[in-house]
Amino acid sequence: MRWLAILCLCASAAGAQEFTTLKGHGGPIMGIAASGDRVVTASFDNSVGVWTGGVPDWKEGHEAAVNAVAFGPDGAVISGADDFTVRLWGQDGTSRVLGTHKGKVTALAVSPDARLVASASWDGTVGLWSLSGDTDGRFLDAPGGVNAVAMDDKARLWAATSNGFLVRYDLIEQTADQIVSHGFGINEIVVTPDWIAYGAVDGVTRVIDHEGGQIADFTLDRRPILAMAYHAGTDQLAVGDGHGYIMMVDTADWQITRDFRATREGPVWALAFSDDGTRIWAGGLDDVAFGWPVEALDAFDPGISGDRSFLRDAATMSNGERQFMRKCSICHALEPGPSRKAGPTLHGVFGRQAGTVPGYTYSDTLDGSDIVWTDDTIDALFDQGPDHYIPGSKMPMQVIAGADDRADLIAFLKSANDTSGKEAGK
Ligand code: HEC
Repeated sequence: MRWLAILCLCASAAGAQEFTTLKGHGGPIMGIAASGDRVVTASFDNSVGVWTGGVPDWKEGHEAAVNAVAFGPDGAVISGADDFTVRLWGQDGTSRVLGTHKGKVTALAVSPDARLVASASWDGTVGLWSLSGDTDGRFLDAPGGVNAVAMDDKARLWAATSNGFLVRYDLIEQTADQIVSHGFGINEIVVTPDWIAYGAVDGVTRVIDHEGGQIADFTLDRRPILAMAYHAGTDQLAVGDGHGYIMMVDTADWQITRDFRATREGPVWALAFSDDGTRIWAGGLDDVAFGWPVEALDAFDPGISGDRSFLRDAATMSNGERQFMRKCSICHALEPGPSRKAGPTLHGVFGRQAGTVPGYTYSDTLDGSDIVWTDDTIDALFDQGPDHYIPGSKMPMQVIAGADDRADLIAFLKSANDTSGKEAGK
């Protein structure tokens, strides 16, 4: 069967499958970056969190909300804030102000050679600061408040403004060229050697070449676009918006591969990929940052229904199988025996008492629970959502809103159990 092949593929990536929550900030998370085993978060609560293995080290010093963070050389962290400053936090615990703007700092970009950091500011400039401390900072004038900034390996700097311009600065030739005039504010840019992606206040998500010619358009009915991240090694572009969705685009063939509601309400302000591209970190209105295995993104979808025909292979599956593949398969096997997935196997789940798969370590909620899994209790689990039906469980919150979808899923689970039972010779 098709799903067996896919399950095997998932199992080989088992290590990356855990869903992670970084909890501790006292306000929404506005910026995020990841490098090695460290994640750094910028928060409305004026602090920067440097997380190693989920444990925070708080960097206090900004006097207003922190909007942007980036990694600098030698493990240093750089932050930009509403207090107009750009700060450098050394791994040895020292900190200093790298530069000061006349307006809030909205974004940061470190040059590929890690010698410079550029800061975008609503004062209508981009600041350029030496990370080695050997030269003074300087400012480039922009045609409006600057929302986003990027640097490429040809000594060019790109800035996007709140009045809709994308400008390219050549730092050697000292020229500035306007590449896009969008009409609405541009919030986010990603610059690669081959293309540029930008996301705007009116929801436009567009990919262009370096001279402004259009390559692709991924504009959906969602606005504004608030976050973007790119992982070159795996050709993934992630786009976060004001409705709480994260859309994933395969940049090798310009297809939307996933579209996932990350928050029940509220925006996705911040996105970053792990070094290997298997995990995406997101921050938003909740005071927590989330790390999702990219492969599991569809599984967490609590709210999307209807036509998602742009996703892969959907047409070839029954609705029940589709529900399972998208929402459960990343964490649950259907075969008997131990699996390396995050959840216990659903083989033999019907009629089984909760929390009783041998060798699986359950949460206290399910361990010793008197729930017996049946059509009715599985239906209730996803009608109400695990967070309500089995509060405290390790299963992430998700609701399957349609009664038909739940019925189809349960029918699929039953038929798969029959099949895998026979294949196992039972
Ligand atoms: C991101 C991972 C993840 C996803 C996605 C997920 N689950 Fe789970 N599930 C778990 C974990 C972890 C547990 C164990 C929970 C605990 O110990 O609290 C679990 C437990 C269960 C249980 C109880 C099993 C038992 O032995 O008591 C059922 C039933 C279940 N899940 C069904 C589903 C179905 C159906 C879907 C898809 C609609 C789904 N799960 C999606 C991780 C997941």
